[in-house]
Amino acid sequence: LDPTMDIAQAINRLRKEKNAIILAHYYQDGEIQDLADFVGDSLDLSRKAAATDADMIVFCGVRFMGEVAKILSPGKIVVIPDAEAGCSLEESCRPDTFAAFRATHPDHIAVTYINCSADIKALSDVIVTSSNAEVIVNSLPADRPILFAPDRHLGSFIARKTGRDMTLWPGSCIIHEQFSEKELVKLKTRHPAALVAAHPECPETVLRHADYIGSTKGILDYVVKTDGTEFIIATEPHIIHQMTKAAPEKTFIPAPFADGACASCADCPFMAKNTLEKIYLAMANEGPAIAVPEDLRIKALKPLERMLELSV
Ligand code: 13P
Repeated sequence: LDPTMDIAQAINRLRKEKNAIILAHYYQDGEIQDLADFVGDSLDLSRKAAATDADMIVFCGVRFMGEVAKILSPGKIVVIPDAEAGCSLEESCRPDTFAAFRATHPDHIAVTYINCSADIKALSDVIVTSSNAEVIVNSLPADRPILFAPDRHLGSFIARKTGRDMTLWPGSCIIHEQFSEKELVKLKTRHPAALVAAHPECPETVLRHADYIGSTKGILDYVVKTDGTEFIIATEPHIIHQMTKAAPEKTFIPAPFADGACASCADCPFMAKNTLEKIYLAMANEGPAIAVPEDLRIKALKPLERMLELSV
């Protein structure tokens, strides 16, 4: 790349030339969020990818999100800035082991968190995100037990909320898993007026201290609408970029890890792989492009469409 090049300007030129839409998750760097046509949580990004009339979707998030966009919009070119942007939840759940897990629970409904591969989606009955999981689980026949994969913390949170019989896959997010109850309690004693907003991928030991639990979009709406000047945010801290823009008068404090002191330790290393330079190159090269074999796409589409139908 020419070091004198204005990357944002070059991306804007390609956005027009290629009739591209840039979608970004709240966990992306602020400069990527600011450049995107739409910033959202997993559910809203899926809806946007399904509805767009752009020719190219540039998905700034992690790989499974681009894959969801391709499954929902197979006629579009879907590119991601870095093909190595994975997800620890996706990694924790492999198709062979998951198929065996299903086979040992034949009467269960397989409810699967969207943070998984297309192969796992194809083996599932319905997909959920953290913003619709409770509604979707409540809509399922009450006499059927549920298998929930791959996030055990979201699964046990939904089991507590719905009272449903749920068998959990033992996966977790490497970031949310590490928020520390002890350090959070210490932080709360230093900021007694602060309200705690947490993502349900956090362990129950953290969620029990939360004033609000929800998806990234839910957390953002909560801190903007709720009276209060200080909020402790127990999720990936790049979402604070949108909070500061929407409510500049409020203070947002990232929830601590066990070592207490580390300011950026909760940054998702997979989300951090994306940069403006890689976005430009992905648009110029039309790759890395997501490809999903058609037979797999059709199988993975069914539980995703079910999710979109059941989400209100
Ligand atoms: P939401 O944006 O749906 O809350 O999900 C967060 C997440 O886990 C992204 O990988």
